Amino acid sequence: MAQDGAQLYGLYCSACHAADGKGATGGQFPPLAGSEWVAGTADRSIKIVLQGLHQPIEVSGKTYNLEMPPQGAALTDEHIAAILSYVRSAWGNKDSAVSVDQVKKVRAATLNRKEYWTAPELLKLHPLENVKPPLTNLISHHYKGQFDKLPDLTKLKPDAVEEEPSGFIDYSDYAKTDHFAMMWEGELETPAGKHEFHLDSDDMSRLVVDGTVVLEIKTPGPIGRAVKKTIQLTKGVHKIRVEYCEVANLEGLSVGVKMPGQRSIKWLSSEKGSASGKAWPEIMLTPVAGRPVIYRNFIQGTSARGIGVGFPGEINIAYSADNYAPEMIWSGKFIDAGHHWTDRGIGYEPPAGDGVVNLTKQKVFAFVSEEGGAWPATSSAPTRFRGYQLSPQGNPTFLVEVAGAKIFDAYESVFSPSQALQRSIRMDGNVTQPISLLIFSGAVQDAMPNRFSAGGLTVQISGGAFRYGKNTVVLDLKGEGAKILYSW
Ligand code: HEC
Repeated sequence: MAQDGAQLYGLYCSACHAADGKGATGGQFPPLAGSEWVAGTADRSIKIVLQGLHQPIEVSGKTYNLEMPPQGAALTDEHIAAILSYVRSAWGNKDSAVSVDQVKKVRAATLNRKEYWTAPELLKLHPLENVKPPLTNLISHHYKGQFDKLPDLTKLKPDAVEEEPSGFIDYSDYAKTDHFAMMWEGELETPAGKHEFHLDSDDMSRLVVDGTVVLEIKTPGPIGRAVKKTIQLTKGVHKIRVEYCEVANLEGLSVGVKMPGQRSIKWLSSEKGSASGKAWPEIMLTPVAGRPVIYRNFIQGTSARGIGVGFPGEINIAYSADNYAPEMIWSGKFIDAGHHWTDRGIGYEPPAGDGVVNLTKQKVFAFVSEEGGAWPATSSAPTRFRGYQLSPQGNPTFLVEVAGAKIFDAYESVFSPSQALQRSIRMDGNVTQPISLLIFSGAVQDAMPNRFSAGGLTVQISGGAFRYGKNTVVLDLKGEGAKILYSW
């Protein structure tokens, strides 16, 4: 059976989860090898295969927010049992085989289900066996009603009370309804020391520890109004009470605690917030299969029409289509798309990496002045952004039209002698007037005709020379173009 399973796995699962179970395209998809969702009861996996899965899920410490299509119609019970028996015994997984009977039962029990599963739903039905629940003896209370402020729920009569063996604060059973309140009571085991509690909600919420109100969000409103407070706790078990009130439209509730000596927040709710008040899951964008990844959205530090490019080798730029130039360059992580992809997409997202260097923040093309080029020049050149093209390797060339000339501004990540970004600027067409391009504005160090540095970044030119003004570095564009290398 496991042998059939391996073949079927290759046909039906490996495109996304990879032949080695580690998740296809370098971990863009979640792993099945070592997955806590695969281990333990097979019902979880059977349901995922039958009806599909969407929305955020954390697997082995990493959050995914993708969609797995249902395969219940394509696969027989025998197929599913064989595949899952294989998955549960391959790549170091050591769980029991799955019987055809078990798949049959789950299929019969979920026959009427048309929607995809979500992680909180599955967790509620089948808590992860190998993961200790964050809260023990957790009980939820549900109250119907239209509340304009958070009432004292302990005084109201709930219409439903349930045990929550998953140990997570979770309102997803009522997510499709408005006008309700919920209260959870459970126990949290803590070491002695300072505990930083976090709370965010849409709409109102309250966190009570050992009978004392620690945090409160008193007015209706969206996620992104996170509050936090540090309190001293003794070693032992503490009573936690969370009260929540949903007025209308969207819901959201995240409750977490940073324990002494811990760098990250332990989330007590199935929804995760973030220390900075973000309540969306992290969706870190990374280059896939050696190709740059492009992010067109509001990027903090550049203009509204920003185009982010994350190159292989952890080099990233934010190009402004309003000002025709890369305005920021940084190393490390590219950008967290969680904000724009799962929230309502309002606001600017900062670069996720470090060492952000601002290159310019204004329109960069100008006619060279008669005196031979002070910056800013006497008049700026009429300029139009013409979009970008991708090379077969996925590298972008931005097209700009300046006074009748076409400027091709191409970028690729190179290794020379360490990871660097190479920018190639080329001109085409009739250039009616000498044009200069602002490369950098701000204070620079080690200014030389062919190189300078700023904020730890070294900028080198070949096929041209930099011209320095007061807090500016300018390139006078010539027919043959120039290459600029950005490195750290
Ligand atoms: C088209 C791509 C695709 C295919 C094919 C696919 N999956 Fe998935 N799978 C996903 C995605 C994406 C997720 C995470 C969904 C989310 O983010 O909510 C996932 C999640 C899972 C999970 C839970 C999370 C984890 O990593 O443990 C299991 C178990 C799983 N898939 C099993 C399978 C099995 C078994 C097959 C083959 C029968 C299969 N999948 C086929 C894309 C796929």
